[in-house]
Amino acid sequence: MTTELNTQWWRDAVIYQIYPRSFADADGDGLGDLPGITARLDHLVELGVDAVWLSPFYPSPQADAGYDVSDYRDVDPLFGRLADFDALVARAHELGLRVIVDLVPNHTSDEHPWFRAALAAGPGSPERERYVFRDEPNDWPSIFGGSAWTRVDDGQWYLHLFDVKQPDLNWDNPAVRAEIADVLRFWLDRGVDGFRVDVAHGLVKTWEPPSDTVDAPPPAVPNGPEPMWDQDGVHEIYRSWRKILDEYPGERILVAEAWVDPVERMARYVRPDEMHQAFNFAYLLAPWRADPVREVINSSIAACRSVGAPTTWVLSNHDVVRHASRFGYAETNNERVGIGVDDPQPDEALGLRRARAATTLMLALPGVAYLYQGEELGLPEHTTLPDEVRQDPTWVRSGHTVRGRDGCRVPIPWTPGGPSYGFGPGEASWLPQPESWDRYALQKQQGVDGSTYELYRQALRLRREYRLGAGTVEWQPDAGTDVVSLRNGSVLVLANLGTEPVALPAGARVLLASGELDADGRVPADTAVWLL
Ligand code: GLC
Repeated sequence: MTTELNTQWWRDAVIYQIYPRSFADADGDGLGDLPGITARLDHLVELGVDAVWLSPFYPSPQADAGYDVSDYRDVDPLFGRLADFDALVARAHELGLRVIVDLVPNHTSDEHPWFRAALAAGPGSPERERYVFRDEPNDWPSIFGGSAWTRVDDGQWYLHLFDVKQPDLNWDNPAVRAEIADVLRFWLDRGVDGFRVDVAHGLVKTWEPPSDTVDAPPPAVPNGPEPMWDQDGVHEIYRSWRKILDEYPGERILVAEAWVDPVERMARYVRPDEMHQAFNFAYLLAPWRADPVREVINSSIAACRSVGAPTTWVLSNHDVVRHASRFGYAETNNERVGIGVDDPQPDEALGLRRARAATTLMLALPGVAYLYQGEELGLPEHTTLPDEVRQDPTWVRSGHTVRGRDGCRVPIPWTPGGPSYGFGPGEASWLPQPESWDRYALQKQQGVDGSTYELYRQALRLRREYRLGAGTVEWQPDAGTDVVSLRNGSVLVLANLGTEPVALPAGARVLLASGELDADGRVPADTAVWLL
C-alpha cells in the first residue's frame, strides 16, 4: 500500500499527533499503549488524516513523560514491545496511514547507559565528553525552571536545558553524531515514514563562561539568537540526516520542533537539503484578531516559499494549553499557552466556538496541518486537576508557580460513562478526566450533525476534495477589517474574528461552517465558513 501513496505526500498532509500514554489503553493499567493505538487506528481513517506522529514510547524513567530516553532502540514495557511497534506500523500502512516517530537528540535520560558511564568514568574521560560537563556552571536557566546546571559528586557540573534528569548531549562529539545517525537507521529500517525532531534548535551551544570569572565573549551572531538556541551549527547536522533519509525509498521526512523567531529563522530548518517541515509556532501563538492572523499566514507562506518548503499550521500539541481553552478568554491575545496559578478559568463555550472557527480556517490553508489528539472532539484543557496528581516536571521546578502541561495530556474520552470514558478497561487513568468529558466522548459525537468531530471529518474530506492543501491563498480585500477572508482555488473562506455578524457574498453556497449562521443568514462572531 505504501508505494501507492502519492509522492511528496508531506507537502499537503494532515498529520495527527498521538500522545501514546493518553490515546488508548489496551492492557488496563491506566496508561495508553501501542496495542491500544493499533486497535484504534480505524478512528483516524474515519477522521480522514494522512499520517500519525507518535510522541516517545521508548524506554524511559518517564521523568518528562518519555522525553527522557534511556534506550533509543526499544519500546518501554509500559507501552508494549518492539513487536507491538512493528504491528502498529504494519496496520497503519495497511490502512494508508504514515507513521512518524519522535526523535529526542538534544538530551538523554540520566539513566541512559552513556550518562551512567560518564558519571563513573570521571572528569576528562571520553565518556564525559559525550555530555556537557564543566568545572563551573554559567547562568543559563532550565526551561522547566531553576538553573540548567547540576553538580555531580566529584564537583563537576553538567548541563540540562530541561529537567535535571535530561542531561544535554555534546553535539561537537563525533560519537554522539554517529550514534543518533544509527538510531535514525534503526527506525527507518523498521519502516517509519519520518521523525519529529525534538528541540531541533537546541543541539549546538555556544559556550558562555560564567560572567563573574571571565569577560564574556561577544555573542557569535551580534544581536542574534541566544547561545543555547538556534545556532548555525545545527543545520549541518540536519543536512547529514537528510542524506540518510534520502537513501530510503518512499519520501521519509524530518519535521523540526524549533521554537525560533521570526518565521524566517524557522524557514532555515526547511531549506531544500535539510528538513521537510517545521512546526509553525508563530501561527499557534497568534492573537485571535484578524490583522495578526493575516500577517502570520502571509509571513509563514512567504518564508517557507522562499526555500521551497510547505508551510505548516498547528494550534495545539502536548506542550501548550489546548486551543479550545486558550481562546476561551474575553481578551483575544492568546497568551495563555501555559496556565499560571493565578489565571482565571476560561469560558468553555466561547473557547470551543473560537476553536472550531480557528480550525476551520486552518484546514483551509495550503500546506500541512497538524492536529493534536482530542482536538477533533473539541476537548478543553483540564484546568482543575488536583495539584497532587500533576506529573509535569515544570510544576516542581517552577516552585509550584507554573502548573505545567498535564492539563492537555489527559486521556481522551471514547465512550460516555465508565471509569475512564472508554480509554481503557482499567479502573482509572493515569490522569483523572473531568466529568464534563462525558459529553465530548467520540461515540456521542459520531454521526451527530454539528458535532465538533463531524466538523473535523467534513473539513478533512472537503479539504481533500477541493485540494486545498495544494492550493494558494488569495486575499479578499473587501471583507472588512475584522474578517479573515481568502480564496483557495474555488473555495472562498471567511472567518469572522470581530464582534458583528457578516453577510455572505451574494449567491454564495455554504460548504462548511464552524457554527450556525444567524437568522439573517449572516456569519456570526467567532465563526468561519467555506463557501462556493
Ligand atoms: C520538547 C517536547 C517537550 C519536552 C521537551 C524536552 O519541547 O515537546 O514535551 O518536555 O522537548 O524534551
